[in-house]
Amino acid sequence: MNSDIMFEKGSRFLVTGGAGFIGSNICEKLLEMGYFVRCLDNLSTGKMENIAPFMENENFEFVKGDIRSLDDCKNAVKGIDYVLHQAAWGSVPRSIEEPLDYNENNITGTLNMMEASRNAGVKSFVYASSASVYGDDELAVKIEESIGKMLSPYAFTKLACEHYGSLYSSLYGLNTVGLRYFNVFGKNQDPMGAYASVIPKFIKEILKGESVTIDGDGGQTRDFVHIENVVQANLRAALYGEKAKGMVFNVAYGDTVTLLEFYNELTRLLRKDVKPNFGPVRPGDIRHSSADTKKIREILGYVPQVSFLEGLGKTIEWYKNNL
Ligand SMILES: NC(=O)c1ccc[n+]([C@@H]2O[C@H](COP(=O)([O-])OP(=O)(O)OC[C@H]3O[C@@H](n4cnc5c(N)ncnc54)[C@H](O)[C@@H]3O)[C@@H](O)[C@H]2O)c1
Repeated sequence: MNSDIMFEKGSRFLVTGGAGFIGSNICEKLLEMGYFVRCLDNLSTGKMENIAPFMENENFEFVKGDIRSLDDCKNAVKGIDYVLHQAAWGSVPRSIEEPLDYNENNITGTLNMMEASRNAGVKSFVYASSASVYGDDELAVKIEESIGKMLSPYAFTKLACEHYGSLYSSLYGLNTVGLRYFNVFGKNQDPMGAYASVIPKFIKEILKGESVTIDGDGGQTRDFVHIENVVQANLRAALYGEKAKGMVFNVAYGDTVTLLEFYNELTRLLRKDVKPNFGPVRPGDIRHSSADTKKIREILGYVPQVSFLEGLGKTIEWYKNNL
């Protein structure tokens, strides 16, 4: 399906946040392709169980370290060709409660990683941004060139990383590529806790017969993108880092559902007729989040392979066996 994605034999990758949801899926794919993968993670939200299957693989190395430490970053990039930087604190509501920690982990941490990477001369530095940078932008379909006012510290940290990405490419020639993920879902995503994302949270709650609360009226739209598409986007961004230098791209499926439509689909697939409760709108939430994917298709050759429904089916099966 992505036979054009191939790196030089013996390529070495660093995945920061590799014990987290997205990072562990990237590690898995790269190992399957036969490359060396180093994972740098401080296990703040990531889990050893996500990388346990790779620990015996001689091409895999786990380094427990923190991107807030420049020394940890410098050590982690030694001998590395491509950096896929996923480590950060997620969650809009949590960032509103703890803005200083977000600044440290997401902005200082990313700056450290960029600095270490430019000194190590890596070929591409791909980093995770977020659709939250669209803020209160009013376009129904989000295009990379138009963003609004930031609505949360989390969104601001991601925008700051994009600005640093642009500077590191123009000032120092580092091939930085920013990926604005929309709502990613799939295996290894944490369904627990107050800040869990809506797909794993709802699947867990419905499977366990717990009550489900939709924030707001459920009319908010989301472009849910399955993890396999996001992994593909990362590999393409690394491969075409020179061509895409200093750019940012939407990473989405390119289609949207409302939260209520998603909920109804979920109860249908799980064969559970459970009515949701409706709660207050979450502060900092974007009402409509729909992506234009023309730029990533044209420049990186990205074609999402897994549809929302197919991805939802795969994800439900995984949670049935892993909750
Ligand atoms: N999941 C989504 O829908 C989504 C959407 C937009 C953007 N993103 C971004 O994608 C990236 C990965 O998100 P995820 O959903 O996999 O989250 P996650 O919490 O599962 O993974 C983040 C990983 O980073 C690690 N980490 C955090 N701070 C660190 C630090 N200071 N030093 C070292 N490691 C650290 C955590 O332990 C964790 O393993 C993040 O940058 C996030 O902001 C995710």
